[in-house]
Amino acid sequence: MYSRITGTGSYLPEKILTNRDLEAMVDTSDEWIRTRTGITQRHVAAEGQMASDLALNASLKAIEAAKIENNEIDLIILATTTPDMIFPSTACILQGKLGIKDCPAFDVQAVCSGFVYALATADMFIRAGKCRNALIVGTEIYSNIVDWNDRTTCVLFGDGAGAVILSQNDQPGILSSHLHANGDYSKALSVPGISHGKIQGNPYVSMEGNTVFKFAVTVLEEVAREAITENNLETSDIDWLIPHQANIRIIKSTAKKLGIPMDKVVATVDKHGNTSAASIPLALDIAVRDGRIQSNQLVLLEGVGGGFTWGAVLLRWGNS
Ligand code: ACO
Repeated sequence: MYSRITGTGSYLPEKILTNRDLEAMVDTSDEWIRTRTGITQRHVAAEGQMASDLALNASLKAIEAAKIENNEIDLIILATTTPDMIFPSTACILQGKLGIKDCPAFDVQAVCSGFVYALATADMFIRAGKCRNALIVGTEIYSNIVDWNDRTTCVLFGDGAGAVILSQNDQPGILSSHLHANGDYSKALSVPGISHGKIQGNPYVSMEGNTVFKFAVTVLEEVAREAITENNLETSDIDWLIPHQANIRIIKSTAKKLGIPMDKVVATVDKHGNTSAASIPLALDIAVRDGRIQSNQLVLLEGVGGGFTWGAVLLRWGNS
């Protein structure tokens, strides 16, 4: 028994914040942001819009694309670092909004690797025969957890959601998944708003930018090679690389180290900024809907984020 993605969807809030808009808010410039990160704009959620609202919009599109009914979903795994509340999980809130009466629903907290972790987990549920149609979502509202006075972080992030339906199939879609974490780096990228188990301290993203950058380019290459080697493939066999969208320099450097040309890489960071757990399913949905990803192609998804966590999922797209 295998799992295969049968539908994708995504959602971006209406409001766009450009680099020029940021110039009026902090001491930065469009030129600095573009050259250091590749970002030109990001979407920002409206007041009152929550991660579950973004997730709902993306999920409905994925469900429609998969041509199933809401009540055929028998597992919901939602990746987010910006939940609606501490509990209940945003997955349960989404389940309620979708009107799904009884299926397991839980959140995964692996920051920017969250979607890869969630997809790998759902794949294991399906292979174990425990579910037929899983809804997997990455949804984030980073605009709530960045300090809009801190130019070193606020220019990097954006809000959005992406979703997929993963269904049972007798042909392999997901070929393998590879998950890693190294808690020695827990202070390099964090939101310490809950610390020592209590709500206290800095509620905003705190980041050692250079540490994150160096670690990201190292492990994104390593985990891509791990997936490729395990499947007895060459990097030249990969049709599409969809890395976490944090910074175009990280993406280009990873592609270069792997020898994968940039025309085989899906990059959306210029328009979305870093949407953390939402970035990979957002990029996937865009490349599926604009026709870049074709049936039978090999697609490598890979992410890295706070923890540090990192991981990859290698899959064959479509039905043939
Ligand atoms: N506008 C203008 N100047 C800025 C800004 C800004 N927005 N932010 C920082 N600077 C300044 C710094 O203060 C510094 O000034 P100084 O030389 O006078 O001290 C100068 O620019 C250079 O700063 P660096 O941090 O050395 O710049 P760098 O080229 O390393 O780029 C960046 C910083 C973009 C954060 C980079 O390190 C990066 O992308 N790191 C990865 C971080 C990341 O992606 N985090 C997201 C979450 S994790 C993830 O998704 C993988």
